[in-house]
Amino acid sequence: MRLSCKVAAVLLCLGSLLLLYLLAGSAAAPPRPPPAPPPSAAAVPLARRQPRLSRSPPRRSPAGGRLASARKPGEQKHSKEPSSLQCMHLAVVACGDRLEETLIMLKSAVLFSNRRLCFHIFAEDSLKPEFEKKVILKDVDSLLYVDTDVLFLRPIDDIWHILKEFNSTQLAAMAPEHEIPKIGWYSRFARHPYYGTTGVNSGVMLMNLTRIRNTQFKNSMIPSGLTWEEMLYPLYQKYKNYITWGDQDLLNIIFYFNPECLYVFPCQWNYRPDHCMYGSNCKGAEEEGVSILHGNRGVYHDDKQPTFKALYEVIRDFPFEDNLFQSLYYPLQSKFLDTVHTLCGRIPQVFLKQIEKTMKKVYENRVIVYLGANHKY
Ligand SMILES: *[C@@H]1O[C@H](CO)[C@@H](O)[C@H](O)[C@H]1NC(C)=O
Ligand SMILES: *[C@@H]1O[C@H](CO)[C@@H](O)[C@H](O)[C@H]1NC(C)=O
Repeated sequence: MRLSCKVAAVLLCLGSLLLLYLLAGSAAAPPRPPPAPPPSAAAVPLARRQPRLSRSPPRRSPAGGRLASARKPGEQKHSKEPSSLQCMHLAVVACGDRLEETLIMLKSAVLFSNRRLCFHIFAEDSLKPEFEKKVILKDVDSLLYVDTDVLFLRPIDDIWHILKEFNSTQLAAMAPEHEIPKIGWYSRFARHPYYGTTGVNSGVMLMNLTRIRNTQFKNSMIPSGLTWEEMLYPLYQKYKNYITWGDQDLLNIIFYFNPECLYVFPCQWNYRPDHCMYGSNCKGAEEEGVSILHGNRGVYHDDKQPTFKALYEVIRDFPFEDNLFQSLYYPLQSKFLDTVHTLCGRIPQVFLKQIEKTMKKVYENRVIVYLGANHKY
């Protein structure tokens, strides 16, 4: 499955995703207060949608401008920089039957994020670490890579901030592959080196490409260190008979030899069925809710984990212009009622918390916008 890809699918992906890029490229501008008020949780997706249609700099009404600077301090500072620096870059490999999944993933990204997003869609099932070799990314400083079966339940802005938490040697960030070594895959089965006690999962990977390009990586082949590009192919050749999960195994090998380069973020940023199907084991998600959902092993498309499937379907069916509460939160709650026979279904709050937070913020922002506007006139 990993290394093969049909030419037709590639062309299809490229065509439709180019379209998507054009539609969804900019989510940068703060929501403008529309003329008529009902302060419901509804309208921010709608309001955000407007600036997306044009590429001009965000227009601000007085109230909107104040609100924006109060909410997002760092943002205006960057507005003079070239657009490549303003984007939060999101990359995915989309191909063949994963096209619908990819579109829903991108929809969730647009739905919950604030700053401008730039999508890089690779319609080819190449090894993830190969990204760096692609000319297209030479001028991109940082990138969030996700698998197609990922859904954002929280603004990408929030994970993007983790880049600023890197110390001087860290250049990539991932979540552990498992929370419990005793039942983790790597700790039981791997026949190659891997990071830490359980390995890391590459389904959500944040990268500072500037640093990756400039680093000499330690490795098991030559003592002097190699660049990322020089290292990949020989490393793959050396371990190819021992690896099971392709690129993820390779990344685990790389960070085994270079642990100081990796930032490990907690499990709520890459939340998988493993975190609840044998009982809840992701403490971070219990506390602050799932931030990024990762429905691996096809759980959006079968009935093994109905909680994951419910989230996928609700985001898929959400009409963009509509009210988050009415058309997303409420249907989700009622679908969750049918999942209580599963262990994941017994902790609905874990899946709802971040969505609730977004709805609350939308509501508050709307109210503040109108107070501002009223004050003005
Ligand atoms: C990535 O690393 C480079 C080099 O250290 C640094 O200048 C840049 O600010 C970093 N990017 C982000 C988004 O932190
Ligand atoms: C950065 O953090 C990593 C992981 O905690 C650590 O291994 C590394 O030594 C740190 N680097 C520096 C320069 O402190």
